[in-house]
Amino acid sequence: MTGAYAPVPLPDYTEYPVEDMRAQARAFYAQIRRRHTVRDFDDRPVPRDIIETCLMAAGTAPNGANHQPWHFTVIGSPALKQDIRTAAEVEERAFYDGKAGKEWLDALAPLGTDADKSFLERAPWLIAVFGARRSRSADGKLRKNYYVPESVSIAAGFLLCALHQAGLATLTHTPSPMGFLNALCGRPEDEKPYLLIVTGYPAPGATIPAHALEKAAARDRQLSLRVKNRLSHGIVEDDAEREAQAAQHAGDAVAHRNPARAARAGHHAGAHRNHHAATLHHRGASHRLCWRGQVSTRVRCPPEKSAGSDSSTITCSGNTSGP
Ligand SMILES: Cc1cc2nc3c(=O)[nH]c(=O)nc-3n(C[C@H](O)[C@H](O)[C@H](O)COP(=O)(O)O)c2cc1C
Repeated sequence: MTGAYAPVPLPDYTEYPVEDMRAQARAFYAQIRRRHTVRDFDDRPVPRDIIETCLMAAGTAPNGANHQPWHFTVIGSPALKQDIRTAAEVEERAFYDGKAGKEWLDALAPLGTDADKSFLERAPWLIAVFGARRSRSADGKLRKNYYVPESVSIAAGFLLCALHQAGLATLTHTPSPMGFLNALCGRPEDEKPYLLIVTGYPAPGATIPAHALEKAAARDRQLSLRVKNRLSHGIVEDDAEREAQAAQHAGDAVAHRNPARAARAGHHAGAHRNHHAATLHHRGASHRLCWRGQVSTRVRCPPEKSAGSDSSTITCSGNTSGP
């Protein structure tokens, strides 16, 4: 432990009754499942402050050592968007003409994508997402960053959720390769461009590939099958059991205080052994659940984690007043 460590009280955690948690989890799922990658954008303007607020949300993401190793460049300038489209289409023509290889192109076929990237000019906003292996701290010291791809990806995920929540359509675009973004966005060569997020309103009559919906149906099916299996194997017997498991997962020693719970889970040895077995059992169950994204994260937005602070910077290249 170094002298740098300064604990403060958890500033803004809200605990909800379990029924509210359940309702909120369902409500979030209902909302997020309405997110779809859109490739047909309207050219209607979107106020820049909405994009900035979404970037503030992205900037609250968890990240390695809290170095916030990302940089978002927001592009609204028609001239710069045209330059980005031109550069992207050069790469994408080569990609679709065979550079990608048959397997990759076959995988993309159900999405109907090709080298035409007209959305890069039409959508009101592009957000280039960069990751930095090294960046400067608030006091100007150059320091190594940790878990950069993971951190940048999580922040980008927050950004996509925030944009969707605000009512905007998004496209996660990865022209391959996309090194041209460094020069066009004025970012240093040692920053890696990860994504180009296109956002705005969907064009009237916009379509999406049917293929993109397949996972939702499959996921729902798998989810209900898993739950049924777990019910029939007595792993999760009822709501109370699920709540007990959730509480234990959150660090609460429910099983320790309630050996009957362990016994109900099918273990018939002494209380201590039962607890141990139930804990393992629970771990097994939670491990199996992980694949579909069981989350036990608390949502916190520490005030010091603004998207404009430290290395978590935003630049608005080109048209700084926005459309
Ligand atoms: C890392 C990443 C790169 C992607 N690159 C592209 C891309 O370059 N062009 C594109 O049209 N879609 C791209 N997508 C979007 C995916 O095709 C899309 O997310 C997928 O088909 C599922 O559809 P959905 O987002 O509507 O659920 C990308 C998505 C991710 C996560």
